[in-house]
Amino acid sequence: MLRLGVNVDHVATVRNARGGAVPDPVRAALLAIQAGADGITAHLREDRRHIRDEDMRRLKAAISKPLNFEMAATEQMLDIALATGPHACCLVPEKRTERTTEGGLDVVGQHDHLKPFIAELSRAGVRVSLFIEPSPEALQAAASLKAPVVELHTGAWCDAVAHGDRAKAEHEFARLRKAAAETARLGLECHAGHGLDYDTARTISALPEIVELNIGHFLIGEAIFVGLAESIRVMRAAMDEGRR
Ligand code: PXP
Repeated sequence: MLRLGVNVDHVATVRNARGGAVPDPVRAALLAIQAGADGITAHLREDRRHIRDEDMRRLKAAISKPLNFEMAATEQMLDIALATGPHACCLVPEKRTERTTEGGLDVVGQHDHLKPFIAELSRAGVRVSLFIEPSPEALQAAASLKAPVVELHTGAWCDAVAHGDRAKAEHEFARLRKAAAETARLGLECHAGHGLDYDTARTISALPEIVELNIGHFLIGEAIFVGLAESIRVMRAAMDEGRR
């Protein structure tokens, strides 16, 4: 089973461009679930540039599928996550100046910083995932941190594909393939995401260790042209085709 987590951040980005209440990321989440999403992902950033605190509470209250709360490992986010009680938390690095999450968590250098966050969320019954680069060092550190899940950052691969850099794309995909295989050996559940479109999602769905893809920007962008339900339907079909 390969799950699709739909990230609704950029519905909130459009809403915030004008202030006010529309388009509503909760409405998008409900529609995404109807259209076949297996879960909803939202990232509460420190600068609240898209999802806001109230969106997280409303998402948790409204949706019937698991909520994956993406957050930086800070005390403030920990308090909000514990108060929200999502199914899962994905810990991500965060820089104020970045446009999106650039690169994976520094699980080696930040080992001691991350450990108590993972422990506290796990104690509260939240499934913790670490957003990491597909490297042996990151995987080893993630395993030693005892988070049950890792999400492999697919951004470098997707960028190489988008730029038509075949050599780099092959190199990056080989890293993802090796990392996914390694998760199985380390007993980690394997997710992947960032920058995926129909084609890259189809390709990566062939890696059997991956059980969840988290996809946002492309689906919301495509929804402008074909509608959100249709973009999710086509994505689901691409993933199913890749898995077969
Ligand atoms: N997974 C993680 C951990 C992310 O930070 C993001 C971006 O918010 C995604 C998946 C989805 O990436 P995209 O919006 O490029 O599909």
